[in-house]
Amino acid sequence: MLKKIIFSLIILVIGVFLGKTIFGVKKKSAPLPTSNVLFRPEQHSSSDSLTNGYTSIEFNGEIHEVKNGSKIQDAVKKANPGDLIRVYPGIYSETLYIDKDNISFQGIIEEGAWPVLDGKKELNDAFLYSGNGIQIENFKIINYKGNGIMGQAGNNFVIRNNWIIDTGVYGIFPQYGKNGIVEHNILSGIEDAAIYIGMCDNVDVKHNKVFENVAGIEIENSRHALVENNYAYNNTGGILAFITPGLPIKTTYDVIIRDNFVIENNHANFGAPGSIVSGIPPGTGILVMAADDVIIENNIISGNNNAGIIITDFANGGAKASNDPDSEPNPDRITILDNFMINNGNAPVGELKALMMTQLSSKGPDILAIGGGQGSTIRDKQRYRTFGLGDFEEPKITSTAHVQSFMLDHPVEPKEITALELGEMTYYGICSGCHAYDIRLIGVPVNAIQAIYHNNPQGIVDYITKPKKVRDDYPEMPPQDYLSEEAKMAVAQYILALKK
Ligand code: HEC
Repeated sequence: MLKKIIFSLIILVIGVFLGKTIFGVKKKSAPLPTSNVLFRPEQHSSSDSLTNGYTSIEFNGEIHEVKNGSKIQDAVKKANPGDLIRVYPGIYSETLYIDKDNISFQGIIEEGAWPVLDGKKELNDAFLYSGNGIQIENFKIINYKGNGIMGQAGNNFVIRNNWIIDTGVYGIFPQYGKNGIVEHNILSGIEDAAIYIGMCDNVDVKHNKVFENVAGIEIENSRHALVENNYAYNNTGGILAFITPGLPIKTTYDVIIRDNFVIENNHANFGAPGSIVSGIPPGTGILVMAADDVIIENNIISGNNNAGIIITDFANGGAKASNDPDSEPNPDRITILDNFMINNGNAPVGELKALMMTQLSSKGPDILAIGGGQGSTIRDKQRYRTFGLGDFEEPKITSTAHVQSFMLDHPVEPKEITALELGEMTYYGICSGCHAYDIRLIGVPVNAIQAIYHNNPQGIVDYITKPKKVRDDYPEMPPQDYLSEEAKMAVAQYILALKK
């Protein structure tokens, strides 16, 4: 026996030696990332549905290397569309502004050391992109005050393999983009939504881990979103699909939430007072508010102390302040397929607690439906403890396996921006993350701004270039001085003309 072991060891040592000499593996350099231009193969039905790999064009641009001590933004300045910026381990304290198309960022991880973007609790955002075809992978992003990675109207985005810890309001926030993927990221300590898909179309959110945030994953005013294989635990709310009224895009529909672990989302709510997420009751697994055509399938939902799944409308869901007539307030055609739900509702809070008291129960349900909405269905209802699902019928479908992805099979065209549209895009892309027409988000309602700056767009330009603290009960607004003068004036005029 011993002989055998020694013999194998010798063979192994020789093997390694030969391998090193033949292949010259001294210090391997990191492989290039796959391209930032993604294609999804044709969706095949049943039999050959395993071909679910993305094919992608090989990366083809120039490579810019950034090492500890230099600035990543300098590489961005030099880069042309198609280029790759490789960032080596080190601490980088900067905000990156990317307004070009098809730029890829690849963090190089060496022996466990990552490139770290550290906002030191002074900087607002780490990555701020408005270009199309942006890919960001392998970064550790910590201590920012606003956003980890924020996209402003950029299409065809790929955000993968980043850790984003304690970066303020939003972790990953592609806003107003079409066709993208957010995968394999880890996010924690975010005071609004860790992953916030806002006003987007055709986005996959897969294999992410989100914990100790207010909202784990949020699909908001977005359509065609697949939330799959994520692990959401100990957030205030795990996974949410809803409409925020007052925003320029009015709908959320066609969302699949499947194969996720939604576990013990019982964290105290530390959202900014007045923000929409500050109304999420702790202990909420999955929340659907006013969204339509949402399918919840094959999730493991356990230990969420308020309720496992809540389906609600504006009136019951905390968006009471809204009088946006263009946002339909009810959740319609929600489909609950097979899910594994145990041990939810152990300590319901607030309105749910009061509601359950009327039923002489101190426990919350696995699934609660409250308020308006029609056409919703559930498979095998008696498996769960439910409340308010009286009109839910048996669904016509049993699985969503035919949908492999909501990404498109070709990159979408960049949004063409004329001077006239610039104001609108800037508003949709930036300001509306914090401002809505007639309700308080992070910032003051637009109609309040209109009252102050009536006929004075220059006043708004001056304020947003160098904001100062005006109100005690609001946080300070981050400066927008990176915007061009043209964009600032355009957005000021747009805001003053906004009607709803
Ligand atoms: C990260 C959140 C955030 C973003 C993004 C944001 N704002 Fe604000 N904004 C605020 C907050 C918070 C306040 C209230 C600040 C205060 O009262 O101290 C505010 C206040 C304002 C005011 C009122 C100033 C006053 O005199 O009372 C204007 C005007 C304004 N924002 C314009 C904009 C415009 C235009 C944009 C987009 C280019 C924008 N904001 C983007 C958060 C934001």
